[in-house]
Amino acid sequence: MLSKTAAKRFFVVGTALCFGAFFLLTLDTLARIPAQTNQETMTDAVVRGKHLWDTSNCMGCHTLLGEGAYYAPELTKAYSRRGPDFIAAMLRDPEAMYPGQRRMQNYDFDEGQIEDLVAFLEWVGRMDLNGFPAEPDLGEVSVPVTSTDSSVARRSDRPQVFNQMCIACHALGGQGGAVGPALDGVGGRLDADYIKRWLTDPFAIKPNSLMPKLPLSDATIVELVAFLSQLKD
Ligand code: HEC
Ligand code: HEC
Repeated sequence: MLSKTAAKRFFVVGTALCFGAFFLLTLDTLARIPAQTNQETMTDAVVRGKHLWDTSNCMGCHTLLGEGAYYAPELTKAYSRRGPDFIAAMLRDPEAMYPGQRRMQNYDFDEGQIEDLVAFLEWVGRMDLNGFPAEPDLGEVSVPVTSTDSSVARRSDRPQVFNQMCIACHALGGQGGAVGPALDGVGGRLDADYIKRWLTDPFAIKPNSLMPKLPLSDATIVELVAFLSQLKD
């Protein structure tokens, strides 16, 4: 049994030690923040993007760093998952991206504001969050290879833009979005010239196309056409 004084001393010393430990740990955490957030790379554009993020109430639908509402996708890794061009296209006109099923509103941002928001999301994506959320999987996993032809694309052979933009709406090998048709075997259905014209401007082929005209460079289109044309089965 502890005497009354011993118990009191035990309480006081124990409390002081725990307080000290938490205090030091808090200081340690605060000291790490500048490095973990890459504070020195925080440009004016990032700061303006953050203000737009707050004043536009993006968190009313999205989460960032796990905080916010669960209506729309988590955006912490949106930059590496979708790439800057997709994000910019989404902010420019969500309705054009998902015709007839718009769930995100159009903010009528100007190009400068869009750049700021993209810069903000890029900066957020580079934060060291001790592994949260997991890095988007943009490679490695192979799609079932049904042909003996070794030129059949495995997922790691896909152009990066395919794994960022196209997979948002199209599935390949059973993985990806279902907004557009699955692209397995597309090279057998459509010839290279048609695919090229389709990617350049879907509306030139189909005025009521449900696929948006995406911001793709000529080089990217060449790369995508070569990739899609070899998906024969
Ligand atoms: C009314 C709800 C709502 C608000 C507010 C909203 N979004 Fe969205 N957002 C969505 C939904 C839903 C999607 C998924 C695509 C779809 O179905 O339209 C989306 C998709 C996105 C995407 C693409 C994500 C991906 O992984 O493909 C980005 C980037 C994005 N939003 C950014 C923003 C930003 C930045 C703001 C604030 C300026 C914002 N959103 C405000 C609902 C919203
Ligand atoms: C925002 C959604 C969306 C994105 C992003 C998207 N697509 Fe599409 N895609 C569609 C829809 C919807 C269709 C069907 C269009 C229609 O018939 O109106 C389509 C059709 C196609 C077709 C014709 C398929 C067929 O069997 O006729 C090809 C090829 C294609 N997309 C390739 C791509 C590639 C490559 C990318 C990436 C650069 C891409 N798409 C990005 C929605 C999308």
